[in-house]
Amino acid sequence: MTLTIRRVQALEILDSRGRPTLAVTVELSDGTRATAKVPSGASTGRHEAVELRDGDPGWHEGQGVRRAVASVEQALGPAVEGLPAEEQATVDRRLVELDKTADKSFFGANAILGISCAVARAAAQANRLELWRYLAGGRSPRLPVPMINVISGGLHAGRAIEFQDFMVIPHGFSSLAEALEAAGRIRRLVRQRLEALGYRLTGIADEGGWGPRLERNEAAIEILADAIARAGFRPGEQIALAVDVAATHFFRDGRYQLISENLRLSGEAMIERMEQWCRRYPLVSIEDPLAEDEWRDWRQLTARLGQDTQIVGDDLFATNLERVARGIEEGLANAVLVKMNQIGTLTETFAVVERARQAGWRAVVSARSGETEDDFLADLAVASGAGQIKIGSLAGSERLAKYNRLLEIERFARLPFDPRASGLPLPG
Ligand code: PGA
Ligand code: ZN
Repeated sequence: MTLTIRRVQALEILDSRGRPTLAVTVELSDGTRATAKVPSGASTGRHEAVELRDGDPGWHEGQGVRRAVASVEQALGPAVEGLPAEEQATVDRRLVELDKTADKSFFGANAILGISCAVARAAAQANRLELWRYLAGGRSPRLPVPMINVISGGLHAGRAIEFQDFMVIPHGFSSLAEALEAAGRIRRLVRQRLEALGYRLTGIADEGGWGPRLERNEAAIEILADAIARAGFRPGEQIALAVDVAATHFFRDGRYQLISENLRLSGEAMIERMEQWCRRYPLVSIEDPLAEDEWRDWRQLTARLGQDTQIVGDDLFATNLERVARGIEEGLANAVLVKMNQIGTLTETFAVVERARQAGWRAVVSARSGETEDDFLADLAVASGAGQIKIGSLAGSERLAKYNRLLEIERFARLPFDPRASGLPLPG
């Protein structure tokens, strides 16, 4: 008997920043019920699908999502009721068609994504399958190697420094459990080092990293490299470095405004800086080193660094298939960051990973800075075979839910931890 969607409900809940987001619950014809919770970014790109907020100043300063909740219950939900729950593409197509806009601004990508994910989770549950296995279908599932935030800047840390994420990639370990243990050690050593240097750490940034007010952006990467050495690893050999510059968010009037360093850099100067960092540090992955619409500079940078370094487009591509396809044609990068809520449906998310793979590009499945305790992302990363995941730091239940789910999958599904399969340019 075909499993169909019987009812869709939604609720306004709060995310890891205490801002409203949606939980969507889907009930199937066999009585199965499942819920998905929607993430939300802060350093959002211009080309992302639209996250609908109420704009009512009397409710969460305009950030409420009660209109999106109403859309789910009164328009989108009823439109998918009766559809076969196991036909994700059909369900997603119906949602996209109903919205009619290219950027999902009519009903909101937050409303649409909540339904898309809840339907998948309910269908997996009804089939008594682990979510990752259900989502994988015919794809080869893979345990991803994590890039783990240790020091934060930019919009996630009150712009203490401008570059957004300084991360470690613990690749030289035979299990994810050991990789996370090592990353945790680095995180503690970095804290000790920062305190020894006189920085006061009174809290953590949005993704759980330390957010010290350093004098220069490069200090963050120096401190990370130093902590790796102190932990007894040879930098690069077991633990490599990654950065997310998130350059769109400090690009004004054609210049990259590094207030902390009192500098205004041209695109060319940013490229040179990245080139220097690649020479000095075991930096294997650079995300958004340039602003989202500076295509000529992206092409330049990828031509110069792309051979030995992963160049990831986040704001640049916004998980949008057309933008990724153009990026591939024009050689703008060699990897894509994949965020479900940048595009709004599971089907479109998988299509982006698939397109990247066809081109020989890498894909990094990513959380948002505003997250919930939902661990869907871990299953998505495994199911897509993307090979890499970016969740944030080892702090906060909204991040740990996903790391812990990966540990569970590693242990019980017995998937091997094989960072080389990620395509990352790793040493050795
Ligand atoms: P965001 O940050 O969720 O605030 O957009 C994550 C990222 O830039 O990768
Ligand atoms: Zn980013």
